[in-house]
Amino acid sequence: MMEIKKVGVLGCGLMGSGIAQVAAQSGYSTTVLEVSRELLDTGLKRIDQFLAAGVAKGKVRPEERQATLSRLSGTTDYESLKDCDLVIEAVIENLEAKREAFSRLERSLKKEAILASNTSSLSITEMAIATKRPQRFVGLHFFNPVPLMKLVEVIRTIRTEPAVEETVVGFAKNLGKVPVRTLDRTGFIVNRLLVPYILDAIRALEEGVGSISDIDQGMKLGCGHPMGPLTLLDLVGIDTTYYIADIMFDEFRDRRFAPPPLMKRMVLAGFHGRKTGRGFYDYASEPPRANDFLTQR
Ligand code: 3HC
Repeated sequence: MMEIKKVGVLGCGLMGSGIAQVAAQSGYSTTVLEVSRELLDTGLKRIDQFLAAGVAKGKVRPEERQATLSRLSGTTDYESLKDCDLVIEAVIENLEAKREAFSRLERSLKKEAILASNTSSLSITEMAIATKRPQRFVGLHFFNPVPLMKLVEVIRTIRTEPAVEETVVGFAKNLGKVPVRTLDRTGFIVNRLLVPYILDAIRALEEGVGSISDIDQGMKLGCGHPMGPLTLLDLVGIDTTYYIADIMFDEFRDRRFAPPPLMKRMVLAGFHGRKTGRGFYDYASEPPRANDFLTQR
């Protein structure tokens, strides 16, 4: 097994910033890359705020916050990642964008480094074969919010060397996560089951089965879920979930994965969930208010 010392993360959005945070928090020297200084600053600020909130809640020691930040650096230059042992990609859920990021990275990255993608739905094999090292390529799928969610899916392809899979499983454990192994089938384990469920929640809303808050309360209190499906959609991002569902529909051609019409309208209208301030709920008020007008005539 290879020893991972230095970690790189491509993308400092919702997922990338969380991954960079837990890597740095677990003792790895971590560099996170964004395409612009502005996006990088937003991502690094998110990490700092999460750590600060952790300190306020008594979950993170102040010296741990400082140590984490000292192990973390941000960059807009792919060259800064050249010495990384493992680079985890968490850019937009678009095959071309991901391939482009890997290709730029590989211009300077050392040969033995392992590449991983945090994709939720794209084919790991399709990404791996576009790189110079398909045998050192895996999927490493985290869950939102990354610092709090225990699970990581580790995905091998038929080209992945067994030792590389083992190294990555060990890395996930070092992050304090619980790894599960899965094959390269779009959606892997969790989204295969979760996506039809959350899309059905939107269909139930469209059909008038219940209001936004009643659908959420129903699943929260009736099934013991930590949050209802529409609140979860707002957390993960309605745009992100739309892209995931579309890719899954394309792979399986099964209507369970087809994004419902309301979802597409919400994406087009900028109702992306918490990150844009509104989705199924409006986050300008506290507690957030359900946007019941979404389904009114
Ligand atoms: N630093 C450290 N710890 C923190 C923290 C911080 N900034 N903020 C919160 N915590 C701790 C809390 O202290 C608490 O710890 P405790 O259990 O020991 O008391 C714990 O984290 C939970 O925090 P809160 O009590 O503040 O919040 P909730 O109890 O409401 O839980 C949640 C929040 C963990 C997000 C929970 O609602 C949940 O599990 N929701 C479901 C999320 C989910 O399903 N995610 C998966 C989405 S799918 C996905 O990501 C895949 C993608 O491909 C689409």
